[in-house]
Parts: sequence; structure tokens; C-alpha cells
Amino acid sequence: MENIILTGDRPTGRLHLGHYVGSLKRRVELQNSGQYDKIFIMIADAQALTDNFDNPEKVRQNIIEVALDYLSVGLDPAKSTLFIQSQIPELTELTFYYMNLVTVSRLQRNPTVKSEIQLRNFEASIPVGFFCYPISQASDITAFKATCVPVGEDQLPMLEQTNEIVRKFNSVYGETLVEPKILLPDNKACLRLPGTDGKAKMSKSLGNCIYLSDTPKEVKQKVMSMYTDPLHLKVEDPGHLEGNTVFTYLDAFSKPEHFAEYLPDYQNLDELKEHYQRGGLGDVKVKKFLNKVLEEELSPIRARRAEYEKDIEGVYRILQAGCEAARAKASETLEEVKNAMKINYFEDSALIAEHVNKYSK
Ligand code: TRP
Repeated sequence: MENIILTGDRPTGRLHLGHYVGSLKRRVELQNSGQYDKIFIMIADAQALTDNFDNPEKVRQNIIEVALDYLSVGLDPAKSTLFIQSQIPELTELTFYYMNLVTVSRLQRNPTVKSEIQLRNFEASIPVGFFCYPISQASDITAFKATCVPVGEDQLPMLEQTNEIVRKFNSVYGETLVEPKILLPDNKACLRLPGTDGKAKMSKSLGNCIYLSDTPKEVKQKVMSMYTDPLHLKVEDPGHLEGNTVFTYLDAFSKPEHFAEYLPDYQNLDELKEHYQRGGLGDVKVKKFLNKVLEEELSPIRARRAEYEKDIEGVYRILQAGCEAARAKASETLEEVKNAMKINYFEDSALIAEHVNKYSK
């Protein structure tokens, strides 16, 4: 069996550090590992429309932003197929057939759907399209026969739901679809990077994100005003690490080499943490270090983005070619699905012969 990756993001804004450590960085490593036969990276515009149907312009404007973010982190169109979900009608067709395999109560129990319904005040009236997006996500994954889906932790319920659909389909119609495995970040700090304000998650609406496309000045300003330990008022005071965003970011980004280069008084993060907890280490010093660590990661990304920004038409051509390649793969799977479901009337000469026979008496 081939090793195939499929993953993607909703184009509702520029991508930020949470996306980066949660999934983007891993995708690039997987892409460059040479261990995958095919890699599909999808801009999930149709899914974005399930809760932004009244704001198509937002989705439309953010497709190029997400594409630039993808290219700037090092996703390489020669190795990975970058495409846009809505341009693959096969995905919608699969969704319609998978809907038969899922119950309303099962969708209601999906924890991600549950919390998003609350977040969007959909309790009173849930749009059907939104309610069904986990089924459409199962189509995204299975259409490409993905074996591996690198995503953030919040997508776990989607993968569980996908696997149930695969098992149900295969048991009703015969072995056709492939069960994917989720690939989560191994670093705990990367599972859910908090916002710069210390809130549980980076989110555009909270204004607590560091974007991949932020300027060095913007990054520095955000780092310097980051949430730390409210009890650490004087440098001499002992500091606390729990819930201290600056240290969570260092857990996610810093490597021992960074200390040798930027903060040689310490060998590694453990020593820095020890000093902070003992007292005598000020927040500003730690923040300046974090800013350098982040810049080391972000400056090559920014440079690559600047190159692609000079050729926006080229980026659109990359997406268009990606859509064609993705569509070819999805339509192969759709054909297998329709064969399995016996909705292949004109390709099935046995069916026609059977009916000729039935009416020839
Ligand atoms: N739900 C994902 C997100 O919100 C986007 C997405 C859509 C996706 N289809 C997918 C991710 C299939 C992985 C696989 O970011």
C-alpha cells in the first residue's frame, strides 16, 4: 500500500505559529523525509464556507494568503500537491453518499462540532452544511486514500469519525476505503500553542496570534508584551513556569544550540527555567531570547514568502496544477466507490445483460 498524506486548513485568515508547530512544520519534515509516495495539502475553502457562507469574500481573499504561507514554510509544489477543496467536485459527491452512513446523534456527539456550535451561537439553528462538515472531511481524507493525516489535536474527533465511516462503508459495500492514522506533534507544547495573552489557543478573533507573515517589528512587539507570571513583579522574585506563555513557547521552539548562540550563560532550557524559578531572572531577558529564537525560525520563512509574493500569478498556477492532479486522484476513488455501491449502470455490462435476459422471455 502507498503511503499517502492528506491534510489542510480553512482559509479564514493568515496562518500563525499555532498552525506552524501544530502541523505545518511536521508536513515539511514529512515531505522532505522521502517516505511518502504522495502528499496532498488542501486549502479547505468549502469547509470554511460552512460557517462563513455569508462572507465568501473573506474565504476568497485568504486562499492566496494560505497558499503563500504554505510555500513560505517550505512546502514544495514539486513534492506536494497544493490544491483548493471546492475545485474537486468529487469530494461533494462522496459526501452525499457517506451521509447515509452517519447518524444525526453521532454528529451531535462529535466534540469538535459541539464546541464550535457553542462558539458560533448556532445552538438555536445549526446550518445543515456546517453540521455535516465532519462527513465532508471524511471525503477529503478518503478521496486521496490517505494513510496519514498530520493535524492538530483538535482534529482527533474528525479522524475518529472518518475511520467509522470507512469501516461502515467497507462492511456494507466491500473493502474499498482506507483507514487513515492521525499524526500529532510529539512535543507537548506544540499540541496546543497558547495565544500571546496566555489564553488556551491562538485565535484571530482574540487578537493573540503571531503570524508567519508578521514583520520582525511586529513579532518583537508581540513577544515583549506576552503574558508571563503575574506574581513575578520584581526580578528577584521567584518566577512560575506554569501557564507562563514565554516558557511554553521556549518549550516549543528552543534548542540547546540557541543557548550557545544567544544566551551562553545557560547550557539549556532546564538551566534557564531553574534560574527563573529561583528568582533573579527578569522577564525581559527571557523575552529577548525568545524573540531571537523565533526570528531564527521565521526569517527564512519571511524570505521565501517575499520571493513568492513577487510572482502571485505563478502561485495561482501552482494551485491550478495542484487542483488538476488532486482531481485525477479523487475521481479514481469516486469511481471505485460508485462501483462498490453498484451505481455504475453504464459500465456494468452484466447488469445490462441481466435485464436484456429478464425482458427477452
Ligand atoms: N478541519 C481542518 C481545519 O479546521 C481543515 C480540514 C478540512 C482538514 N479537511 C481536512 C484537515 C482533511 C485534515 C484533513 O483546519
